[in-house]
Amino acid sequence: MNLRETDVSKRAFNFCAGPAALPTAVLQRAQAEMLDWQGKGLSVMEMSHRSDEYVAIASQAEQDLRDLLAVPNDYKVLFLQGGASQQFAEIPLNLLPEDGVADYVETGIWSKKAIEEARRYGAINVAASAKAHDYFAIPGQNDWQLSKDAAYVHYCSNETIGGLQFDWVPQVGDTPLVADMSSDILSRSLDVSQFGLIYAGAQKNIGPSGLVVVIVREDLLGRARSSCPTMLDYKISADNGSMYNTPATYSWYLSGLVFQWLKEQGGVEAMERINRAKKDLLYKAIDDSDFYSNPIAHNARSWMNVPFRLADEKLDKAFLAGADERGLLNLKGHRSVGGMRASIYNAVGMDAVEALVAYMAEFEKERA
Ligand SMILES: Cc1ncc(COP(=O)(O)O)c(C=O)c1O
Repeated sequence: MNLRETDVSKRAFNFCAGPAALPTAVLQRAQAEMLDWQGKGLSVMEMSHRSDEYVAIASQAEQDLRDLLAVPNDYKVLFLQGGASQQFAEIPLNLLPEDGVADYVETGIWSKKAIEEARRYGAINVAASAKAHDYFAIPGQNDWQLSKDAAYVHYCSNETIGGLQFDWVPQVGDTPLVADMSSDILSRSLDVSQFGLIYAGAQKNIGPSGLVVVIVREDLLGRARSSCPTMLDYKISADNGSMYNTPATYSWYLSGLVFQWLKEQGGVEAMERINRAKKDLLYKAIDDSDFYSNPIAHNARSWMNVPFRLADEKLDKAFLAGADERGLLNLKGHRSVGGMRASIYNAVGMDAVEALVAYMAEFEKERA
């Protein structure tokens, strides 16, 4: 294996939807600690998850996440495996009684997947769908058909593929609100107390893949149906500090470094300010041009995932090739949507968005 000094200036601007860019400072810290974590003579990857050292790393990560989101004391924070997709099953297995009904809001591919999986476990009412708006707008809550006795209401706060994001929190009274926040957690302020359960796959705004974070109100624990696999029972995970079995130790550690980095940046409020400026700049570049377009209703445009099309799709290949040459990577849109998509998570700085906007203007001038 070739070993060479890392040249930070060689790091590209990575607009990947996930696994996504991580802060360079975090990777450098992990690099510095790789062979010898804090003088212990071993890597975090080689530690027992039961060791005092690792338990301290894991607890600090949890505490930092709690601080960042001001998680109330009556919520558990779990660091689990299986990705956000496993939660599509874990949620009904824990929260939907066999003879009950759960309400789901369908706003795109990810919420659709959650619905399809939940249907394997019980009655699902699709209370609202963005289909009538071609998934370009979110139906207002007045148009939702919520069930009278739903076990919970599920929605996806940011559809990573379509680029459709709620800028409001559904009001569902005493029914637990469950949100897939895989692609927008920690990007703007959030009142955790409005939710029964929040889950997020790590590989966008949290850390590397291999981890899903679940924030769950304690009164929702202990409701799993008897057929629920042990590994998917939230109460068992909570009672064992997310260590019923060996957790994804390195992903958990690296996520902890991301939380420390976020605190150093000024926390979620600071990220919200930066993210607002980033998305304003990019959407303005799209809207000011006749060459680029984004179809999403303005109040539902995602701050994190910005899909856009070129006026002539025959130019897509040239656009992507030029972007690659300039170190602007992973701008190809999802195969189901086509066009381009720029994912501008927390670790993608304003400098990356400025470089992208400058390239877009240059390409338009030359090729439009
Ligand atoms: C909003 C959303 N939900 C769920 C998932 C699935 O996540 P995972 O690959 O961790 O299962 C993704 C992945 O991109 C996503 O963006």
